[in-house]
Amino acid sequence: MELNAAPIGVFDSGYGGLTVLKELEKAMPGYDYLYLGDNARAPYGTRSFDTVYEYTLQAVKWLFDKGCPLVILACNTASARALRSIQQNDLSGMDPSKRVLGVIRPTAEIAGKFTNTGSIGILGTEGTVTSHSYILELQKFFPEVKVYQEACPMWVPLVENHEHDKPGADYFVRQHIDRLTQQCADIDAIFLACTHYPLLLDKIMRYIPEGMQVFSQGSIVADSLKQYLERHPEIQSRLSTGSNCYFTTTDRAETFDRQAAVFYGKSVASHRIELL
Ligand code: DGL
Repeated sequence: MELNAAPIGVFDSGYGGLTVLKELEKAMPGYDYLYLGDNARAPYGTRSFDTVYEYTLQAVKWLFDKGCPLVILACNTASARALRSIQQNDLSGMDPSKRVLGVIRPTAEIAGKFTNTGSIGILGTEGTVTSHSYILELQKFFPEVKVYQEACPMWVPLVENHEHDKPGADYFVRQHIDRLTQQCADIDAIFLACTHYPLLLDKIMRYIPEGMQVFSQGSIVADSLKQYLERHPEIQSRLSTGSNCYFTTTDRAETFDRQAAVFYGKSVASHRIELL
């Protein structure tokens, strides 16, 4: 990484955040980005609150140490379980001039606009669903909208193990779509509230009832960050603008490089790092 680089840090438990990074770069190509995937400890979705918090805090500290003035938790599970504590309790002790943002609020801010029936569906990890973060955030912006949730614990392992486009994945995709739609026949907008799930989009589209729309978060988060930086020149002016993207993983770099291309659409050359 260039000396003096001040990239936007993008963190996920594994590969899923690459679906967000891709959209960030598309919307804001000038900045430098530093991606960190905690592949060695993924998935986070079934881990306890304390564990997700501890791992996420380690990742944020590492990205801050590498010079990121701003870190995006491109992971719903980390956003649901760690973001608030980091913002409220840890940031002041690390560097109060830096920022950590998540993916739930930007999605909740606009989700209600995409339903005509007033009923939306959220598909996420167990950690995200049991946190009720989407229900709480959506209530603030769209109190009249009804939110139905379904946890899909098998979906991230399918993606992390590169089985998402194989026939075996169909069973689990269908199972959770059916469980969600059985909760309410009126749902007309489904949000993929896990950054890994866009990889399953083809199969999801195969099993959703006709007329239902499905939304991924990448471009939503990118639009929201763009607006945030316009409103916060004090953060925006600290970001370096070399249009470089650096990739790091806590597991084998060769494996990351091979799989990342599937999520990111381009080949990457990552480095292995250790989080403590
Ligand atoms: N991409 C993460 C999310 O958005 C996956 C969580 C996991 O590691 O289980 O929640």
